[in-house]
Amino acid sequence: MLILGIETSCDETGVALVEDGEVVRSNVIADQQTLHARYGGVVPEIASRAHVDLLHPAVEEACALGGVHLGDVDAIAVTIGPGLAGSLLVGVAAAKSYALALDRPLIGVNHLIGHVYANVLDHGALPLPAVVFVVSGGHTSLLVMDDLGVMRVLGQTIDDAAGEAYDKVARVLGLGYPGGPAIDMLAQEGGDPAAVRFPRALIDDGTYDFSLSGLKTAVLRHVRAQGGQEQVNVNDVAASFQEAVVDVQVSKVLRAASAEGVDTVLLAGGVAANSRLRARLNEEAERRNVRVLAPSPALCTDNGAMIGCAGYFQLKRGERTSLDVGADPNLQIVPGHGRRAPRRPKRRGGATSTRHE
Ligand code: KG4
Ligand code: ZN
Repeated sequence: MLILGIETSCDETGVALVEDGEVVRSNVIADQQTLHARYGGVVPEIASRAHVDLLHPAVEEACALGGVHLGDVDAIAVTIGPGLAGSLLVGVAAAKSYALALDRPLIGVNHLIGHVYANVLDHGALPLPAVVFVVSGGHTSLLVMDDLGVMRVLGQTIDDAAGEAYDKVARVLGLGYPGGPAIDMLAQEGGDPAAVRFPRALIDDGTYDFSLSGLKTAVLRHVRAQGGQEQVNVNDVAASFQEAVVDVQVSKVLRAASAEGVDTVLLAGGVAANSRLRARLNEEAERRNVRVLAPSPALCTDNGAMIGCAGYFQLKRGERTSLDVGADPNLQIVPGHGRRAPRRPKRRGGATSTRHE
């Protein structure tokens, strides 16, 4: 079964062809980073316009690379939320048009569930139950996946998402957008993770919640106290910040695995590409006989293949989405799970977004 996966929730136009939920025939990502970089964050209006321009050519390219005609596709899977409203709408409208024109089923996919399914593309069937740690630009959620389609939320961020914190600290350090990969790289290039002792919020509070806004402020204060970004050792600050983030993440993820009695952890989302998180979690999990699975770094960040994959499993469970479906910018990872982080104020006079929440 061949699924066309479409992802337009933020600033990546992702289109992929996925066969039987596991084989990626093609995975086209038209990224818009150069368009947004000069603003230091994603500009929602620019993102949705760019999706309009990039989406259909990306579908054609995905078909050409996959060696198939659009008519060979068996179903269309599309991200319906969460994300930026305008960006989501472009993908949803296009997917409905393809579904209608080709007379194929439409499958609406939760973007965050898509991130989790990216693991299937690299590792095959998900070993369940598992603790799932979703860390992206807009989300930090710690969950248990009991079965396919059955998830429970253990905790989440009470303020900034993990990727959001990386991006904001990168801005403080004068690095480009997105900041996560830049901080990761600087830390690897000789950064001393013990150079500055930044706070590890909520590390021993007994919950599975996270808080990163105090850490971000601590980095800002440190840089100011040193006389500005030119005066600090950027590698050391990047590595020390990253270590504070990873310390809390590793501690809570492994405590969750032990409390839930599960021996598998699934990482998901853009921040799951972080080399320090992967290395530290693997190392400490191994000591406790816990296995950690993460998508390959390229499949951690937004892409259409993960949506095609999740869509395949939803279709197999008999799910179909009505052509009346709308985009839901605030779609929850677990339906009815009401508690979520307060909306972040928009930056730069409201012009830019700190990604979806
Ligand atoms: O999942 P994603 O592509 O988009 C959302 O759904 O939000 O995640 C993007 C986020 C950005 O904040 C980016 O800075 C972060 O993932 N990121 C990283 C790394 N690669 C991407 N953060 C830390 N280390 C990385 N290597
Ligand atoms: Zn994402």
